[in-house]
Amino acid sequence: MTAKTPQHADSPLKCPVTVEDVDLFSPGAQERWYEAYPILHRDAPVLRIPGEGLTPGTDGYILSKYEDIAMVVRDPVRFPPTLTLALKMFEDSDVPPEEMKHVNAMMVSMYSLRPTDELYRAHRQELTDPWVGPGASRHTEMITGHGNDLIAAWIDRPSCEVEFISEFARPLPQRVMASVLGFPQEDVEQLARWGTEQVKPYVIGRGHKNELTQEQLVEQFKGLDGFKEYVADAVKAKRKNPADDMISWLCDVEYKALGRKLTDIEINGIVYAMVLGGLETTQYALEEQAQLICETPGLFEELKADRSKIRGFCEEAMRLRSPTQGLSTRITSQDEVFQGVTVPKGSLLHLRWAAGNVDPDEWECPYELDIERKAVTRHLAFSQGPRVCPGAGISRIEQQTAWNLLLDRLEGIEYGEGNTFEHQPGIMMGTLKLNLKFQKAG
Ligand code: HEM
Repeated sequence: MTAKTPQHADSPLKCPVTVEDVDLFSPGAQERWYEAYPILHRDAPVLRIPGEGLTPGTDGYILSKYEDIAMVVRDPVRFPPTLTLALKMFEDSDVPPEEMKHVNAMMVSMYSLRPTDELYRAHRQELTDPWVGPGASRHTEMITGHGNDLIAAWIDRPSCEVEFISEFARPLPQRVMASVLGFPQEDVEQLARWGTEQVKPYVIGRGHKNELTQEQLVEQFKGLDGFKEYVADAVKAKRKNPADDMISWLCDVEYKALGRKLTDIEINGIVYAMVLGGLETTQYALEEQAQLICETPGLFEELKADRSKIRGFCEEAMRLRSPTQGLSTRITSQDEVFQGVTVPKGSLLHLRWAAGNVDPDEWECPYELDIERKAVTRHLAFSQGPRVCPGAGISRIEQQTAWNLLLDRLEGIEYGEGNTFEHQPGIMMGTLKLNLKFQKAG
């Protein structure tokens, strides 16, 4: 089964031929990403970005080989996350983090709840796994309800047309995360606006470090006005009247690793991380999956006839079109050699998950969609190792539930009119819109 890359809108960047042409970060680079990866694998699997380290005089390096990225994320001692530098800054300061300017509740809670690798693991196992990790299967019914409501809004349309992103792929994870956390559905629009502010660095941030200018940073904090207070009010209300939701549970749970309950600001920080990570990302997986179905004759029918194949399809789609393409989140704590290239201590590593996921040394026919590929979950779309995405569990259930529902309610989908396949700016892989034509099931 082969999937062709959709015809992308024109990019201001020319199609890369040599490594000198490769540019993963300028505006429009999104349209050239998958043309750049084979060049990186062949000619520059470790590509230096001069002067683009975290501190003056250091460099950034793009890693595109699966084995290098997998090794880095599995070894937090040799390759500490950049966030640990921020936590070190808190440690060295006389001002408590909650009183520092431009420090959000998530950073504050990271400092008190998970400053070490051991506590990081405990935080995941004790505080997030039961809700968005392996325990997320408890949400299947709720996700089904939201999915059905969204489909009901367009399934009887005489035109049989749907803009799949705004009418399904985006609102589904937004509604799901509001339900998980225990926020009213009427607040989803407002939550989504705050979520959009949170992810701004990954959309309009400059270069591989996703940097906002000082003005953009100020704007971002302005846009986030009210979020902390909104969550604080919810925490207060749920302490008084608990319900069956994640915030109520966090208000009461004993964090065994520290032998105590959580404070309001710590809960606020966990909620910040859930909104940042959970509101948008799954949208990109769903939307690229829809595209792969449109491009692969017979795939819709195959999945409809045998639902056990949905899981492999979702995983393989995330491998082939990784939602988060890359992040610069690790540093070298000593001199390292990757693929024969020396990378000095103190360098910033850009882990290019998407490139590792199509590395020909790891994957047979890497650009082919093979929904029966062996051990496909070893892909890097959620990263791996101790800091693997804590929301992978709920994202997977959202994707699988969504496709089960769409396969129930539809006979097929194909590309509709007016698609340019232009991608949104930034580091996430997603088109700005996706018009589909559907056939309703009888
Ligand atoms: C298709 C969907 C998703 C993708 C592709 C994705 C991908 C990733 C990746 C690559 C990382 C970086 C891990 C590392 O540095 O090693 C990450 C971190 C993270 N993700 Fe996800 N994610 C997705 C969905 C979610 C969801 C649904 C949630 C929340 C419910 C979430 C919450 C987070 C958080 C909080 C972090 C940061 C971990 C930390 O605090 O250090 N993600 N994700």
